[in-house]
Amino acid sequence: MADNDNQEILLHVEHLKKYFPVRNKETLMAVDDVSFDICKGETMGLVGESGCGKTTCGRTIIGLYRATGVEYKGKNVTKLDGKDKQWFKKNAQMIFQDPYASLDPRMTVGDIIAEGMANFNLYPNPKEREKRVQELLALVGLNKEHAGRFPHEFSGGQRQRIGIARALAVAPEFIICDEPISALDVSIQAQVVNLLMKLQRELKLTYLFIAHDLSMVKHISDKVGVMYMGHIVEMAASDELYSNPMHPYTKALLSAIPVPDPEIERGKTVLPIERSINCRNCSKKHKLNPVSP
Ligand SMILES: Nc1ncnc2c1ncn2[C@@H]1O[C@H](COP(=O)(O)OP(=O)(O)OP(=O)(O)O)[C@@H](O)[C@H]1O
Ligand SMILES: [Mg+2]
Repeated sequence: MADNDNQEILLHVEHLKKYFPVRNKETLMAVDDVSFDICKGETMGLVGESGCGKTTCGRTIIGLYRATGVEYKGKNVTKLDGKDKQWFKKNAQMIFQDPYASLDPRMTVGDIIAEGMANFNLYPNPKEREKRVQELLALVGLNKEHAGRFPHEFSGGQRQRIGIARALAVAPEFIICDEPISALDVSIQAQVVNLLMKLQRELKLTYLFIAHDLSMVKHISDKVGVMYMGHIVEMAASDELYSNPMHPYTKALLSAIPVPDPEIERGKTVLPIERSINCRNCSKKHKLNPVSP
């Protein structure tokens, strides 16, 4: 979490959209008019149920899909080229949802971590690069001996640590953490979150932290955006969102968080999730259907 009042805007997202062409010439509006700012050193949580567009939002910001409306340090990222494009690619990294699928099984851990350094011509001297890989392994809680092993030799939690080391290898400022813990054992999840928080403090990182789990996001985020079928329906400071949720969808998500006390849990009402929203154009309620005719 941000521990100062530094309000420099690092990432400015305005009217971000990503539509996919789908069957019968229809369009799936995976991300539809999403806007937010993230200040330097801050963590913004992005939550919502499966398929609401969280990953697509992250991938679009980072340039994996072509985007308009993304500014990084005041620069329009779509218009960057040459050196400036490299500068953005180096500074904005992503940690992926699935630590099993995101690491190349044919590469050693050392090569996976060093790959980004080579792409950006960092540590060109092989000895220095090897030393840097070992430092990064230590930073994420692994051993230097792990550099010579392959991803299949590691547990899910360890693989996610390798993914974190790979992202850190190019010394980024901003990291999109796309559900970095959802594929992990519950017992390991807190360790990885704590590692990410420690790294944020030590390296002054800025995060967009994507998750399903509102309770985890509260722990790590300064502010939280609640995403629902391609839209951000509510954005608030973390504490405010939990103590005073405004949107019915946020209330439904909060009511679905399990309470550790079985008696309270049994008596609790889980609110239904409404499948309609207030239309911005005609002020009527429409069924939410992200597929446009
Ligand atoms: N490359 C693609 N082509 C077509 N549709 C896509 C593509 N990628 C994602 N989608 C669709 O866009 C919508 C949003 O997907 P996205 O992966 O962003 O959701 P998500 O919120 O990250 O879900 P989860 O929590 O399950 O990871 C989904 O309906 C998905 O099927
Ligand atoms: Mg996703």
